[in-house]
Amino acid sequence: MLIRPYQENDETAVIALWEKSGLTRPWNDPQKDIVRKLKVQADWFVVAEQDQQIVASVMAGYDGHRGWINYLAVDPLLQGQGVGRRIMHYVEQQLLEFGCPKINLQIRKSNEEAISFYRKIGYSEDEVLSFGKRLIPD
Ligand SMILES: CC(C)(COP(=O)(O)OP(=O)(O)OC[C@H]1O[C@@H](n2cnc3c(N)ncnc32)[C@H](O)[C@@H]1OP(=O)(O)O)[C@@H](O)C(=O)NCCC(=O)NCCS
Repeated sequence: MLIRPYQENDETAVIALWEKSGLTRPWNDPQKDIVRKLKVQADWFVVAEQDQQIVASVMAGYDGHRGWINYLAVDPLLQGQGVGRRIMHYVEQQLLEFGCPKINLQIRKSNEEAISFYRKIGYSEDEVLSFGKRLIPD
């Protein structure tokens, strides 16, 4: 399995991966999210490729204080085989090399599978409320 930065011709496969992994939501436009990410730390949007197929993705970023993780997805056919752990390790190393001291991420409360996964790979719940304010309606 090859973990590498996203390339522009990966768009269709990546959006299909997000759809089959249950990550897309009506209020998030995946194409716009990709275009925005390609303008900011584009190399930290990474995919895993196996047999020329995109099988996993994750978007990482560092704002100078915290690292952030979004759009982690593993192809449902390959879940439970260590792919999520490997692609997370890859971006964690990228963030660490940049001096990032802590990673934050948000999980929908209903996503018990992801909560279990993140606990297994060393993440724990912070005693915070997560607030957001949308600036651009998609
Ligand atoms: C969450 C997700 C990325 C995990 O990827 P994965 O490749 O299946 O996970 P891994 O095989 O690397 O698992 C790593 C560890 O987490 C555990 N784990 C993974 N999924 C789990 C689940 N549903 N329930 C309990 N534990 C789980 C594994 O057992 C493994 O632990 P171990 O090393 O002790 O055996 C994947 O299930 C996914 O894409 N889900 C849909 C999209 C999503 O919810 N993304 C996260 C948004 S916040």
